Amino acid sequence: MATTVRTAQAPANVQTPPVLHARSQSTNVAPKTLPTFSMQGKVCLVTGGARGLGFDFCRAFADSGCTSLAVIDLKASEAQQAANELTAYAVDGGGHVEDINFIGIECDVSSELSVQKAYAQIIQKFGRIDSVVASAGIVENYSAFDYPADRMKRLYDINVHGAFYTAREAARHMTTQGGGSIILVASMSANIVNIPQPQTPYNASKAAVKHMAASLAVEWAKTGVRVNSLSPGYMLTKLTRTILENDPDLKKTWESLTPMGRMGEPEDLAGAVVFLASDASKFMTGSDIRVDGGYCII
Ligand SMILES: NC(=O)c1ccc[n+]([C@@H]2O[C@H](COP(=O)([O-])OP(=O)(O)OC[C@H]3O[C@@H](n4cnc5c(N)ncnc54)[C@H](O)[C@@H]3O)[C@@H](O)[C@H]2O)c1
Repeated sequence: MATTVRTAQAPANVQTPPVLHARSQSTNVAPKTLPTFSMQGKVCLVTGGARGLGFDFCRAFADSGCTSLAVIDLKASEAQQAANELTAYAVDGGGHVEDINFIGIECDVSSELSVQKAYAQIIQKFGRIDSVVASAGIVENYSAFDYPADRMKRLYDINVHGAFYTAREAARHMTTQGGGSIILVASMSANIVNIPQPQTPYNASKAAVKHMAASLAVEWAKTGVRVNSLSPGYMLTKLTRTILENDPDLKKTWESLTPMGRMGEPEDLAGAVVFLASDASKFMTGSDIRVDGGYCII
């Protein structure tokens, strides 16, 4: 997608910076970006990719040149529908349909066997795996006294064990091919306690995910497999909309607690996820990137 470079007349008292590239003076040239940010030639996988942040991570990869992508989600039909929508999106952006290989795969990340089967399909189709985002996750709000034990187990099975199975299976393939990048989606809730809604198991699960990323990063550092976490603040997705539908005032509370005064749009994470997934971050492992409108600093 070509973007027009805008040029403005500098005020008399402002020194104009030196011209670095003759191309940057032209008005009809796409601005250059660092080639290391490109996802061209990389095979990507996103769990929970059928909707919400996962879907937008897929879109960010498509925007950055990825043409081989596996969208993983609970239902085959939803995963495939997302893959189809993403294909149409990539074609709209100038891609050729015959070059684009976006596939939907059914997988329950809380089952190790299901995760292994999904990876087997991906390796059979693409032969390798370069960048993996573990985005599948759930949240529920119960006070600690009322939290049903079976639901708490389910939450940890998805958020914590699911992230672990996704990362371990990725690393098994990545170590044999010389490396890759794994991103575990944690949350600002790994660092702070959200108010007013009670969600202790969720917060603890995200703290576990953040430290899991750091711990796996150290275990696999010498193999070329990098593991980092991405910690969003309040983002507008299906997950948060469901909570807000039952409590419209909550949105105002969340916004007032966020220094930037708004909730994040899923595309606000695009730069961070492409940075972590691409070679732009190739000396980075065990780090957490927080994208929360400043929530955690006050
Ligand atoms: N939305 C936010 O404000 C926010 C903030 C911080 C962190 N997060 C984290 O981001 C991630 C994505 O959240 P979201 O807002 O996009 O949620 P969402 O509910 O909109 O989407 C989650 C996706 O994961 C899938 N999924 C759920 N359980 C699964 C399982 N067992 N196996 C495979 N797929 C499964 C769902 O079908 C869905 O497509 C979660 O890990 C969440 O904790 C979200």
